[in-house]
Amino acid sequence: MKLETIFKHNQQWVQEKLSIDNEYFENLAKGQQPEILYIGCSDSRVTAEEMMGVSLGQVFVYRNIANMVSSLDLSAMSVINYAVNHLGVKHIVVCGHYYCGGVKAAMQAQDLGILNPWLRNIRDVYRLHKEELNAIEDEDERYNQLIRLNVREQCVNVLKTAEVQVAYRKNALQVHGWVFDIRTGQIIDLELDLDKILGGIMEIYALS
Ligand code: CO
Repeated sequence: MKLETIFKHNQQWVQEKLSIDNEYFENLAKGQQPEILYIGCSDSRVTAEEMMGVSLGQVFVYRNIANMVSSLDLSAMSVINYAVNHLGVKHIVVCGHYYCGGVKAAMQAQDLGILNPWLRNIRDVYRLHKEELNAIEDEDERYNQLIRLNVREQCVNVLKTAEVQVAYRKNALQVHGWVFDIRTGQIIDLELDLDKILGGIMEIYALS
């Protein structure tokens, strides 16, 4: 794709928006009030807004390799803090996806340089659920299950932050784990029972 094409498409898009609503961009400039924070993978096939069918201004988005929520990632921690404390989002979604290259790489014995510490977070998820994963004989199914378990663990990581704990306790915020299936285009809600998952560990992670 030529970069000039992008600017041409952008001009067409601006004209389309203005033809429907002359003040579309002026209104956008007034501010944002998204109700959802979406945390997803950087994968080019998993574009948050397009697959969710949402408009500009509706979803606050954070993406990185393999949709990780790491306490050492200042960007992730800032995004969550801003979304909860300033935007007042009602939902935080962690969305993984099948065919995730990041998760695949973490299942292999391979030195990937600077990616090693990032992918090690996924290896830690594998270790936490090693018995369950190793009991799955089919390799593709084990890969898919690690993708789902990784989403689940990143939801738990979201709930390890102080601001989320406060909002969650007030029932002002829900946390959801989803997986996007690239092969069908469908978003699958993992319907995680976070209260149950957190039940046994909040004594460790509760911050107040
Ligand atoms: Co991915």
